[in-house]
Amino acid sequence: MLQTPYYLIDKSKLLQNMERIAAVREKSGAKALLALKCFATWSVFDFMRDYMDGTTSSSLNEVRLGHERFGKETHAYSVAYADYEIDEVVSHADKIIFNSIGQLQRFESQSSGITRGLRLNPGVSSSSFDLADPARPFSRLGEWDLKQVDPVMEMITGFMIHNNCENTDFALFDRMLGDIEQKFAPLLKKAEWVSLGGGIHFTGDDYPVDQFAERLKRFSGEYGVQVYLEPGEASITKSTTLETTVLDTLYNGKNLVVVDSSIEAHMLDLLIYRENAKVHPNQGPHRAMVCGKSCLAGDIFGEFDFPEEVKVGDRISFQDAAGYTMVKKNWFNGVKMPAIAIRELDGSLRTVREFDYTDYEQSLS
Ligand SMILES: Cc1ncc(COP(=O)(O)O)c(C=O)c1O
Repeated sequence: MLQTPYYLIDKSKLLQNMERIAAVREKSGAKALLALKCFATWSVFDFMRDYMDGTTSSSLNEVRLGHERFGKETHAYSVAYADYEIDEVVSHADKIIFNSIGQLQRFESQSSGITRGLRLNPGVSSSSFDLADPARPFSRLGEWDLKQVDPVMEMITGFMIHNNCENTDFALFDRMLGDIEQKFAPLLKKAEWVSLGGGIHFTGDDYPVDQFAERLKRFSGEYGVQVYLEPGEASITKSTTLETTVLDTLYNGKNLVVVDSSIEAHMLDLLIYRENAKVHPNQGPHRAMVCGKSCLAGDIFGEFDFPEEVKVGDRISFQDAAGYTMVKKNWFNGVKMPAIAIRELDGSLRTVREFDYTDYEQSLS
């Protein structure tokens, strides 16, 4: 038994997503790039590489990681590049997508050797969170005015449009793509490629993959463009758990359980979006509030139902711990950083990374 806490990536579950992605690529002709902002645990890149076309990034560090650890096609994107990083970004990328006309013009000469694109913002999205809504009022994420974009068309060959967020609804995706076509058709007709970003949950069990692939193919044919998808969450959904051990139990009007992890430090995204962690099967007569071990009063994974009363030493496994977790983990309270382990296809477990005091110390100075 490995020492908890650790993130456990199960390759057989990851494989299900990879096979769905590969099927969409094949049926639609679209290319799929892993969004490193969501998942950048490179120990499984060798495994994922056969099913995807490359990576997309949101910074110099990510584009370098994508180039060096994943390979294949490497897209660079960032909300804003600094003068001191642009040359290195370009050296790692096949394509660079600028967020604004200002950045495109500023880095015109440095980026002239690679394919260039621009982010468009259609002003509609599927996000239910203001915080994560790229189409929020006054959004800085992309250009929206055709009249401004048209004059710079000779500098670019394509566009990136990311406006789906946790979208499980094909009809909504279809409608929003229709909006994009209506708004940007004159630009799309001049493009050679269009990336539709991430946020489309097309690897989910009930997603109508054939309809999705047909829609992508139709879009590609209509405008004569190579379509790209940038799945983050859809690539790794349900592949990973966070394994913890119960350190203490208390009663304060509710049964409280403290585990050797922290939602603040190890699953921060849930806390930001005020969502509960997931425990499976979450059934039974013994309800308990599962709390993290940091000093934050609200460091709470959620309330769950267990078949037996939870005791010190029990293991609790949080589901769906791959996306926006490992990339956001932090050293708050100096809480022990979860190791990273992989369950291979033959069932064997392999620890690929452990963190110790030196990592904590070296994260500051
Ligand atoms: C430009 C871009 N591409 C891809 C993604 C990945 O999205 P998801 O992990 O929801 O698939 C994001 C997420 O914010 C994004 O901003």
